[in-house]
Amino acid sequence: MKNQPLTNILNLLKKQRGFDFTGYRTSMLERRIQKRLYSTKQKKITDYLDFLINHPNELDNLIDIFTINVSHFFRNPLTFEYIQKIIMPELLINKSKENDKSLRIWSAGCSFGEEPYSMAIIINEFLEKEETRVLPRIIATDIDKKALKIATAGSYTSKSIKNVKYGLVSKYFDKVDDKFVISEKIKKLVQFSFFDLTDKNREVPPESIFGGFDIVFCRNVLIYFDLDYQKIVFNKLYKSLNKNGYLVLGEAEKPIEGFKHKFRRENKCCKIYKKIG
Ligand SMILES: C[S@@+](CC[C@H](N)C(=O)[O-])C[C@H]1O[C@@H](n2cnc3c(N)ncnc32)[C@H](O)[C@@H]1O
Repeated sequence: MKNQPLTNILNLLKKQRGFDFTGYRTSMLERRIQKRLYSTKQKKITDYLDFLINHPNELDNLIDIFTINVSHFFRNPLTFEYIQKIIMPELLINKSKENDKSLRIWSAGCSFGEEPYSMAIIINEFLEKEETRVLPRIIATDIDKKALKIATAGSYTSKSIKNVKYGLVSKYFDKVDDKFVISEKIKKLVQFSFFDLTDKNREVPPESIFGGFDIVFCRNVLIYFDLDYQKIVFNKLYKSLNKNGYLVLGEAEKPIEGFKHKFRRENKCCKIYKKIG
């Protein structure tokens, strides 16, 4: 249950910027608003609401602080290692048996693109070794348009690539001044677009047409939503996956009630789940 000033702020954001944060956890929203109160030197949340009304640019700062974009390449390295060593070979064998040339990946809540590009690097390594002839399609979505712009540019600091193995840094990044720019080859594999995971009117990103994903990443996004919104999102994730497809969650996330029996955890070391049925 959200208090009145908070509800008013969320309504203002929805009306002025089209962002609906009503399904986000109250504690998280309040914590983040407190930071903006401090930065804008407002004493109470009601003062901050007035400030927002009189300084519409502050709405963008608030959106920025609500949509935390923290990410880096190969975040939770064990997860990516498991995908590379176990899941990809299994998927590719099955695809080859079924003469299925498609390989469809969705990074939902992709932030600045580190996650989908990490997956594109893994896939490219398979393609180069001619271990597969699949045609990969990686769709990466977020509600933060600024983050999507940065993702499309693909330019990163050394901090973002701290988990990338040396050989892969020199192979897939161009050093431009103090930045590391992802190579065109990898960029071409990823398609970025806007998609709100809580949108009740759309099941999957329009670019994907029908979903049908082999692997869906939705990491460190669900933690921000209350249970009702998590249900909406899990429903989408489940429907978007192929039979036997994989769902990759963040370290602090797991399938909620109603979805526990629809996914089987792959192993104890990472949050990778196989769709059942
Ligand atoms: C902490 S980042 C996670 C990035 C990446 N998945 C990872 O784990 O490293 C969370 C991302 O979720 C996005 N996000 C928040 N609410 C969203 C929503 N309703 N629909 C789509 N993306 C959302 C944010 O904009 C942010 O970029």
